Amino acid sequence: MSIRFDLSYANIDSSEFESRYQQLAQANDDLNNKTGVGNDFLGWVDYPIKYDQDEFVRIKEAAEKIKERCDALVVIGIGGSYLGAKAVITALTSPFYNEEPRAVRKAPKIYFAGQNISGKYLEKLLALLADQEVCVNVISKSGTTTEPAIAFRFFKQFLEDKYGKAGAQERIFVTTDAARGALKFMADEEGYETFVIPDDIGGRYSVYTAVGLLPIAAAGIDIDALMDGGKSGYEEYNKPEFEKNPCFQYALYRNVLYNRSKNIEILVDYDPSLEYLAEWWKQLFGESDGKDGKGLFPASAHFSTDLHSLGQMIQDGPKNHFETVIVIEADQSDLKVFRDEKNLEGLNYLTGWEIDAVNEKAFMGTLLAHVDGGVPNGIIRLKKLDAFHIGKLIYFFEKACGLNGYLLGVNPFDQPGVEAYKKNMFALLHKPGYEDLTAELEERL
Ligand code: PA5
Repeated sequence: MSIRFDLSYANIDSSEFESRYQQLAQANDDLNNKTGVGNDFLGWVDYPIKYDQDEFVRIKEAAEKIKERCDALVVIGIGGSYLGAKAVITALTSPFYNEEPRAVRKAPKIYFAGQNISGKYLEKLLALLADQEVCVNVISKSGTTTEPAIAFRFFKQFLEDKYGKAGAQERIFVTTDAARGALKFMADEEGYETFVIPDDIGGRYSVYTAVGLLPIAAAGIDIDALMDGGKSGYEEYNKPEFEKNPCFQYALYRNVLYNRSKNIEILVDYDPSLEYLAEWWKQLFGESDGKDGKGLFPASAHFSTDLHSLGQMIQDGPKNHFETVIVIEADQSDLKVFRDEKNLEGLNYLTGWEIDAVNEKAFMGTLLAHVDGGVPNGIIRLKKLDAFHIGKLIYFFEKACGLNGYLLGVNPFDQPGVEAYKKNMFALLHKPGYEDLTAELEERL
């Protein structure tokens, strides 16, 4: 099995799974038959076997154009419109990807914008790219999100100043709704090449669409293998036998622990390659679960780094959390500790040890310590870190997330809570139409 879920340290009795299995099977049927709440956003469920092949070819062609034309690709988007691409690119490229020579990278550098409203970030990025060949992929399903819209206004101007209108047109790629939104309108008006985010797929479930695939392909990653991973996930995580379905196991494990008042799930990794996978995961579960006062708070910890900070809290703090650890089973490197004649730091006892093997012992030592400290641990064992396995892991989490939402009794496919800040921000920015709220909020500040 390419992804296993190891429950040996989760401290859950099989009867706790059995008593919930019927509910889980019902949730699975509701996802497959599109009979559950939020069923107008279930396009992701069978997308890996139903995706638009023509658009897929066009994505690959656009990625080649980007590689030919640019030293740097700026991906503009926020939330589900950038985290999936960033997660996959970070997982599958060098930790120093942007610093590597082009001959090593074989693809443009990738920068992200529009995921914050920092003037300094935007200013420094524009300055950094002033003398480079730049392409832009702006991504927004609604086409109206403020953060990417601001960043795109600057980059559109930047490209037009640098290359003229026609040159900019060749370097701007737009991923948005098929028919609606300001971005679609602008793309048609300006003649940009566009890619579609299907109506029935929400941002955080959109990695297999052009949202994720275009930047991922432009970074030189094999998107065929990524989709094969998604397809394999679709098939395997539909198996009714609980013992053969790690996705079902993960979904029920979260539910059992949540019902024991473990309100925080910490996704743990032991390799910086997985740092943004955790960010994507936090968005996926945070926006899907957190409704009606319910849901597990999704947190992340990057070990060893966080063993020297959060480790104390995890070991000895309140016992309101559990850990889900992602372990990559294949070695990432064969770098070994070598012998030093003077041995001043006393490390010679490690001579000949692979760094990855030392990391594995850090994992095992931490696992036992945290379990002894009363923290249940579930382990996602990923056979290898490549496009296929990451593609499958994405499906694993998406499916578990949909199942969990239904087990929790919430709609996992909307995000009404995100609107609250937007309304206030618009009012405080004096956006037309928000006058009453502007007055009310300014009174309070
Ligand atoms: O998961 C989601 O739906 C959200 O996180 C969106 O992706 C995010 O708000 C960005 O929205 P849009 O693509 O419309 O700009």
